[in-house]
Amino acid sequence: MSVQTYANFINGEWTPAASGETFENRSPADTSDLVGRFAASGSADVDRAVASAAEAYTTWRQVPAPKRADILLRAAQLFAERKDCYARDMTREMGKVVAETGGDVQEAIDMAQLMAGEGRRLYGQTTPSELRNKFAMSIRQPVGLCGLITAWNFPIAVPSWKIFPALICGNTVVLKPAEEAPLSAVNFVQTLADAGLPPGVVNLVTGDGAGAGAPLVAHPAIRVVSFTGSTATGRLVNEAAAPSFKKVHLEMGGKNAIIVLDDADLELAVDGCLWGGFGTTGQRCTAASRVIVQKGIYRRFLDRFVERARGLKVGNGLEPGTQMGPSITETQLQKVMEYVAIGKREGARLATGGHRLTTGDWAKGWFHEPTIFGDVSPTMRIAQEEIFGPVVSVLPCDGLDDGVQIANSVAYGLSGAIYTRDVNAAFTAMRDVESGLFYVNAPTIGAEVHLPFGGIKGTGNGHREAGTAALDVFSEWKSIYVDFSGRLQRAQMDT
Ligand code: UN1
Repeated sequence: MSVQTYANFINGEWTPAASGETFENRSPADTSDLVGRFAASGSADVDRAVASAAEAYTTWRQVPAPKRADILLRAAQLFAERKDCYARDMTREMGKVVAETGGDVQEAIDMAQLMAGEGRRLYGQTTPSELRNKFAMSIRQPVGLCGLITAWNFPIAVPSWKIFPALICGNTVVLKPAEEAPLSAVNFVQTLADAGLPPGVVNLVTGDGAGAGAPLVAHPAIRVVSFTGSTATGRLVNEAAAPSFKKVHLEMGGKNAIIVLDDADLELAVDGCLWGGFGTTGQRCTAASRVIVQKGIYRRFLDRFVERARGLKVGNGLEPGTQMGPSITETQLQKVMEYVAIGKREGARLATGGHRLTTGDWAKGWFHEPTIFGDVSPTMRIAQEEIFGPVVSVLPCDGLDDGVQIANSVAYGLSGAIYTRDVNAAFTAMRDVESGLFYVNAPTIGAEVHLPFGGIKGTGNGHREAGTAALDVFSEWKSIYVDFSGRLQRAQMDT
């Protein structure tokens, strides 16, 4: 089968990189499977994409929001029709199992529908003026050109969280997707084009962070940067955008904890920890990489968790029955292996897993056993640092207060969860766990698009995506006063 070469999407046309360079995208489950070649973009390509977004902005910002919404609704319908095909492309390029990649596409459908609804709202305020015959209101206005940098683990969902609110607010966009999952980004913009989005409103430049991401963040015409990725890269993005006072929205790492109290439904908690810890091979910013278990149930929980993790079917996500796919790259797999070594050195007890899988079909890709460390103490590196792989640390705790304290003892604050039947404990944890998302009797993953998504501490910088909160990233408030008194009225002075 011949391998396709994919280009950038600029001003409605598929355009190769100015340099003519490409990079390869291979399946992490089978590195002999070359998914495609993609444009290796540089600053010349970013400049063209930004110029195209600037040109399109002059008209797109004037299109009535309900009309923009019509295009989003058409895109939602096309995504629904193409869901299976896009899901398979996604599994092939980034490894998570097809049921999960179908969910990824579904999240974009949900987001398109939600933001299409906003096209008929985008509410501002009307409010009384302190003066007579004077009218006061606030309206949302587009910010301008948005530079969006997205991660590979949710390669259709995460762009949708940024692109749809950006568009409904009247902005235009340049998307720089992760180089590990560019095909899903190509599928995304193709869908928008097919839905009737005018040329230049969404532009795509593929490539790596240094070549394409950095010039996008630094570009003076870009007014909003929205980034999903690691905390280390997020810091660089923030610094690079600061001199030009761009609005920066950062969605970064996590070290999320599930607290399991003695009174929890044990089997339900194990189900949640398996899905939260090993779903998407642990490669979610929301992954439950720590489980904090009260001492009375600790042994029973750990034994059962280990038994169930051993039963997980690891393999190519395209094969039916596979429950966990590979790590995304060799580098990421090595990182997982390094953390296994670190955990052992630190004196944690390796309860199951701990090895790369190298026999049979596993030898073709970046597979690792589902791995659980028991008897982990809160200060160990495996309890503090984001691994982004199939490694879960189980920590004992004395009870609710101790559990919450351990949960909060990390630099991140994205998601958290508690398993308990005690309503008082549940409400206390809801209030006291430092996170932007929280679940009761459910794992740390699985956010829905109509609620704000994001985190505190090292996870975020005070913004949220999804929900109506996303509109705050992609719009500016304008407060408007209309004086129809026919005379000069001085605020704070005249009556
Ligand atoms: C991410 O890991 O970057 O809540 C996003 C969840 C998904 C999104 C995760 N809906 O786990």
